Parts: sequence; structure tokens; C-alpha cells
Amino acid sequence: MLKIAVIPGDGIGKEVTDQGLKVMEYLNGKNGLQLTLDKFELGAERYLKNGEVLPEKVLKKLETYNSIYLGAVGDPRVPAGVLEQGILLKLRFYFDQYVNLRPVKLFKDDFSPLKNKGVNDIDFTVIRENTEGLYAGVGGFLKKNTPDEVAIQEMVNTRKGVDRVIKYAFEYALKYGKEPKVTLCDKSNVLTYAHNLWQRAFKDIAVTYPRVETDHFLVDAITMKMVRNPEIFDVIVTCNMFGDIITDLGAELQGGMGLAVSGNINPDSVSMFEPVHGSAPDIAGQNKANPLAAILAVGMMLKHLGYSNLGDRVEKAVEQALKENQVTPDMGGNLSTDEVGNYIVTLLKQDR
Ligand code: NAI
Ligand code: MG
Repeated sequence: MLKIAVIPGDGIGKEVTDQGLKVMEYLNGKNGLQLTLDKFELGAERYLKNGEVLPEKVLKKLETYNSIYLGAVGDPRVPAGVLEQGILLKLRFYFDQYVNLRPVKLFKDDFSPLKNKGVNDIDFTVIRENTEGLYAGVGGFLKKNTPDEVAIQEMVNTRKGVDRVIKYAFEYALKYGKEPKVTLCDKSNVLTYAHNLWQRAFKDIAVTYPRVETDHFLVDAITMKMVRNPEIFDVIVTCNMFGDIITDLGAELQGGMGLAVSGNINPDSVSMFEPVHGSAPDIAGQNKANPLAAILAVGMMLKHLGYSNLGDRVEKAVEQALKENQVTPDMGGNLSTDEVGNYIVTLLKQDR
């Protein structure tokens, strides 16, 4: 029995996770999958009612779950950052979710922003370190607000932290890779200490995976390659900040935020799966949000939990809905959020 904590959150988070829930409810019982789905009300409503963001007792309870399925948080009635940092970042750090898994997969040639590059060319995965690097929050000011001010933001790279994310990338490539190949993306020519550590860790780990090919690009060069020759990539592993940047480039290559999914993973703890987009207050409550990223997040979660076959079926259903243009207006269709969710379930029923 697998326990899933569902955090719909705010705005369209609720609408899109409802569609993901339909998919999970349909797949429950198939291929031996046994899910218990429990909803957690976190987000703007709770905060506005009693000031709670993510109480300790809820965190403790979440520890007993196998995974978290999250919609989106953020609401114009709440000061920016309160919910985003108090829920999303808090969960990431509390469960030490050190891998940010971001597939870049184009599902339909029409969505490609690149001339002559289609579904066979744009299909790779970025594995971003999620807890260290320049985003670890280490630093300080000296002589703040004076003409002599100094601001220092330090880049934290621990051998343990670098090793574990690189190892995850190799394991991921073995399981799901195409060739398989892992490409290291760094700036080792300039960051001669921090990324020298990455280089050494990468080499040491690579020799223990003789079946996996390796490659290396500096971060600036990789942005050019992602646009010019995306087909050369299989799995890319990189630090926190570079991962932040190249995954947004990746999201555009695959046709925008409507299809971008993210996994915040700790293989030994509770992982969290979510669409990349936010709560979209501008369209919330109108039943027109695109639920496909939230549905793909269900697929990613099922794969992570060991149900690869079901995860692939979810992906295939999304691909089919896109092909048939059974999608929301932002993707060029004219279905509502609910109708897209129902259609995906219909497709899953047909494909046994
Ligand atoms: P957003 O992703 O919510 O929206 C950006 C634009 O894309 C809007 O015009 C929106 O209508 C559209 N959009 C987003 N998702 C869509 C979908 N599924 N279907 C159709 N259209 C979609 O980003 P924005 O506006 O910067 O942030 C809104 C709120 O969400 C803020 O409070 C922000 O902090 C929060 N946020 C939360 C995230 C999370 O929970 N992971 C991630 C990004 C933002
Ligand atoms: Mg970003």
C-alpha cells in the first residue's frame, strides 16, 4: 500500500490536481498498484483563517507518506513568498529532496520552437542539485548601505552532496536513459575550486558505471547546444543555479510551462511531484487551466514509486490527447480543465 499526500494548494492548483486525482483513482488497483490518497489543506485559505502555513504536526504526519503530490501555492491576498517559501521550500529542505528532476520532452512537433527539431530530437532529462550551491543561503553583508558595502553569497559544494546527485543521474540514465549517457554541465574553467570538485566526483562515479557514456559541457556552451543540437542529450546533471536556468530553457524547448513537470526527490525519504507552473490567479476558478503538467506529474510519481509501466501509460495518454487536440485553449484546443482530465481517463481505459 502506497500513501500519497495530496496538497492541491491555491488557485488552479486545486483544479489541476483534481484531474491528476482522477487519473490516480482510475489506475488504483491496476498492475498491483494500491494507493491511499489523503488531501492536506495547505495554502492561502488556511493561512488567512488562522495564520498557519505548514505546522510542525503536519510535517510530522507527512513523514509517514510515500510521496507528496502538489498543485501550486501562492495567492494575491497573501504577501509574496510566505506560502512559496513556507510550504514549497520548507518541504524541499525538511525532506532533503536533493534531486530536482526535470524531463524535457517535446510531445508534438507543432510545439517545437526550433526549426527542423521535433519529437525525436527534444527528449532529455535535467537533474539539478536541489539543496546546495549558490542557493544554500550562506553569505552576508559588510558595511551595508554605505559606499563601501560588500555583499558575499557563497557557493556550497559538499563532496557528499555532489556525489549523491551525480550517482542519482547515473542510476537514472541506466534505468530510463536512451543511450544511456550522462552529461556534466558546469563552469569548471572559472569555478576552479567548486566545479573542480564536481569534475573529480563525476569522473570517480563514472568509472563505476561502465555501461553509461559520459560527456561534458560548460554551462554557457550547453545553452547553445540545447538550442542547436538538443538531440545529443540524454541525462544532464548540474548544480543548483545552472539547473535553475537551463531547465527554463528546457521548458520552452518542450512547448512551455503547460507541459513542464518537476520531481523533488530524495530516494531515501519523501519525494514531491508537481507541475512547474504556479497558481495562475488570473485564470483561477474558470475551469480553463491546462491540467496536463499536473497529470504528467502523476506519471512521474508512479515511475518513481516503481510503476514505470503505469507512468508510461499516463505519458502516452497525454501525447495522444495532444495529437488529437483534446486540450485546453492555451494549447490550441477548446476543452475545459475537467474535460481534459476526463478525456485522459477515457484514453487510459482504451489502452489496456
Ligand atoms: P503562473 O505559472 O501561475 O502563471 C504565469 C502565466 O501562465 C499566467 O498567465 C497563467 O495564467 C499561465 N498559466 C500557468 N499555468 C497554467 C496552466 N496550467 N494552464 C493555463 N495557463 C497557465 O506564474 P505567476 O503568475 O508568476 O505566479 C502566480 C502565483 O503562483 C504566485 O503567487 C507565485 O508565487 C506562485 N508560483 C507557485 C509555484 C509553485 O507552487 N510551484 C511556481 C511558480 C509560481
Ligand atoms: Mg527557475
